[in-house]
Amino acid sequence: MLAVKAEDLWFSYGEGWALKGVSLEIPEGEIVAVVGPNGSGKTTFAKHLIGLLKPTRGRVLVYGEDTREKSVAELSRLVGYVFQNPNHQIFSETVYDEVAFGPRNLGFEEARVKELVESSLKLVGLEGKGEERPYMLSMGEKERLAIASVLAMDPRLLILDEPTIGQDRSTMSKLIEVVKRLKGEGRTVLLISHDIDLVYEHSDYVIVFKGGEVVSEGKVAEVLSDPELTAKASLSLPKLAELARLLGLDKLPSSVEDVVEVLLNEVRGIRKEELANP
Ligand SMILES: Nc1ncnc2c1ncn2[C@@H]1O[C@H](COP(=O)(O)OP(=O)(O)OP(=O)(O)O)[C@@H](O)[C@H]1O
Ligand SMILES: [Mg+2]
Repeated sequence: MLAVKAEDLWFSYGEGWALKGVSLEIPEGEIVAVVGPNGSGKTTFAKHLIGLLKPTRGRVLVYGEDTREKSVAELSRLVGYVFQNPNHQIFSETVYDEVAFGPRNLGFEEARVKELVESSLKLVGLEGKGEERPYMLSMGEKERLAIASVLAMDPRLLILDEPTIGQDRSTMSKLIEVVKRLKGEGRTVLLISHDIDLVYEHSDYVIVFKGGEVVSEGKVAEVLSDPELTAKASLSLPKLAELARLLGLDKLPSSVEDVVEVLLNEVRGIRKEELANP
């Protein structure tokens, strides 16, 4: 099943076009990255998936549902959207109430709400923090709280809009862990990010936006290792892809471990030669 299908989607905020004929398909159960320069239409596109924006022309199907015929409330049962700045999304007194807000709003029984809150907090590694004040949390914890609040509504598609801004490496690796766990549960994750290395290492597919258009899409290793394409989209080449080119590797490494393996074998070869011909 497709999580998303956009058909010739055009959108204008009033003047000019923010999206110009976007057609794409996002398969279910994958980690799909959306990349592109500032102002290229990534957030505008993502907002169509939860119905916050409706197509000026064309249409968007989310799990087969035409977003023009659904309200944001209806779509939020399918799609969770974590916004660029988690501070704008957090408003409750306690972590528990913050996460409970969505499912309570959907009218779930308090016992079910409790289940959802606890499983969501666990999923993002905030278990046991229910009584804490959200504003006392670190930036990384706030980001994960924002994700938990959205997860508590049990969405099939989760959109993370720039979750990595201002995060340190350990927070980022926690975030990646959460994303992988969600994929393991069969959910689809749309990861909007400027961190090309993170995208290269951790997503399955990538969609490249530029000037309101999709200029490329496909498997991450194929799309992002093409220096002509990344340059055209004003993106930098992922470090792993660059290293692979410099080393003359035929097979693109998909992780740091792959590169270490290759380098290790090279060095072992050199050492062997040195030992053979002292
Ligand atoms: N609320 C708005 N009103 C008018 N124009 C807008 C609005 N939001 C975005 N735009 C314009 O639409 C275009 C696409 O913006 P969008 O926010 O979707 O880009 P983006 O790829 O998410 O950028 P960034 O990487 O900076 O988040 C830009 O030209 C932007 O200026
Ligand atoms: Mg944006």
